[in-house]
Amino acid sequence: MTTLELPVLNSSLATAAPATLKNGKKIYVETYGCQMNVSDSEIVQSVMDTNGYEIIHSPDTADVILLNTCAIRDNAEKKIHERLTHLKYYKKRNRNLVVGLLGCMAERLRAQLLELQLVDIVVGPDEYRRVPELVESALNGDKGIAVKLSRVETYEDILPLRTEGISAWVSIMRGCDKFCTFCVVPFTRGRERSRTLSGVVDEMKSLWDLGFKEVTLLGQNVNSYRDEPSGSDFADLLIACTKAVPQMRIRYSTSHPQDMSDKLIYAMAEYPGICNYIHLPIQSGSNRILELMNRTYTVEHYLQRVEKIKQLIPNCAMSTDIISGFCTETEEDHQLTLDVMRTVKYEGAYMFSYSPRENTKAWKMGDDVPDEVKQRRLEEIITLQRIHSAEVNQPEIGILHSVMVEGPSKRGNNEWRGRTDTNKVIVFPHEDVRGYVVGDLVNVRVHTVNSATLLGTLE
Ligand code: 5AD
Ligand code: SF4
Repeated sequence: MTTLELPVLNSSLATAAPATLKNGKKIYVETYGCQMNVSDSEIVQSVMDTNGYEIIHSPDTADVILLNTCAIRDNAEKKIHERLTHLKYYKKRNRNLVVGLLGCMAERLRAQLLELQLVDIVVGPDEYRRVPELVESALNGDKGIAVKLSRVETYEDILPLRTEGISAWVSIMRGCDKFCTFCVVPFTRGRERSRTLSGVVDEMKSLWDLGFKEVTLLGQNVNSYRDEPSGSDFADLLIACTKAVPQMRIRYSTSHPQDMSDKLIYAMAEYPGICNYIHLPIQSGSNRILELMNRTYTVEHYLQRVEKIKQLIPNCAMSTDIISGFCTETEEDHQLTLDVMRTVKYEGAYMFSYSPRENTKAWKMGDDVPDEVKQRRLEEIITLQRIHSAEVNQPEIGILHSVMVEGPSKRGNNEWRGRTDTNKVIVFPHEDVRGYVVGDLVNVRVHTVNSATLLGTLE
């Protein structure tokens, strides 16, 4: 799952019915990291709402501040420490303020975090049902921790307290069993487990009834999804979802190249509701590095998957994750990564320099690529990606897209923004006469492109 490492906007309006009995306490949840954390924060807010807390959207008047944290790279954790420094002022103003750390960093560092004077509770990703109990104790002055990982917890019965809008995240599985040697996720989120197919399909239907037009099915490795009772896999789940709500745009993240099955690609090709966009992390273009990373595929396998995707879904957009400067990476390995990028020509990429994480296998391999080399290679990767993003958009000129309207564009000038089926942002002039609203599908023909955005006119 791609990590943003930025605070994500908090929920503004709840779609679930608010609890009737409030306890007079206000809670503010701030989310860092990947989409799975955004989805988890919606679960935590739902749990707190049911327990009588008022969810607020700024820390200023909060009785409880929870940071849902990320641990994927060192700088993600540094950001949390910085944020905690700011929160000292809030605690000075309100000595009874409860500060909690949730999520992957909480799971990784556990009781160490309670040693920070400011932190009252520490809760790992599988213990969110216990947040009300821990907050209550903390309001009475007792610090608390809950970091047990579970083999079964999926929060299936909890209706997330979602942001009002047209797009929803739906988590379909939790955990990861892949154990890529650089990654902390298998340690912070535990073993893979899936929700039931019927539970996910029911949620899709109710989201449609609530006015959502687009969902992203989430999992660290969605291709490992399995509905045990029926034996259904991820492709079956996608088909069941799109059959249940054919007009809903369905996206998903993230796929593992080893498990990207033909069946899944055929399903995407066949059903128009499943968007033609695949995020397929490559990480490195060198087979030697991929093996050290325990990615369990070769570049040849990866390219053969891409070939199959392009053959069956010719207009499919692709994005990826790339790490520069993994242990022992040579200049030659780095060039191989650039070569794969040139072969695939991704629409987009999330690019990182390698950050060693304690207790992972790679931690013991050492971190022998100097920072300035990692950085220089990363910059080369970013520069090449920029060129590709602009290049792959060129053939878009003249193409008519079915675009989901998302609202006014950042550029202003009475322009609106929407998204193509292939997940590209497109800007077009707003025309009152047409009377379209957020969530509608409109036809827009592209007339100009740049690396980040398409510009078009309504037809
Ligand atoms: N260092 C750098 N990048 C990492 N990622 C995961 N762990 C690390 C790490 N230790 C990247 C991978 C993954 C994405 C979510 O984050 O590219 O696909
Ligand atoms: Fe981490 Fe690899 Fe699992 Fe992704 S597939 S969460 S990179 S261990």
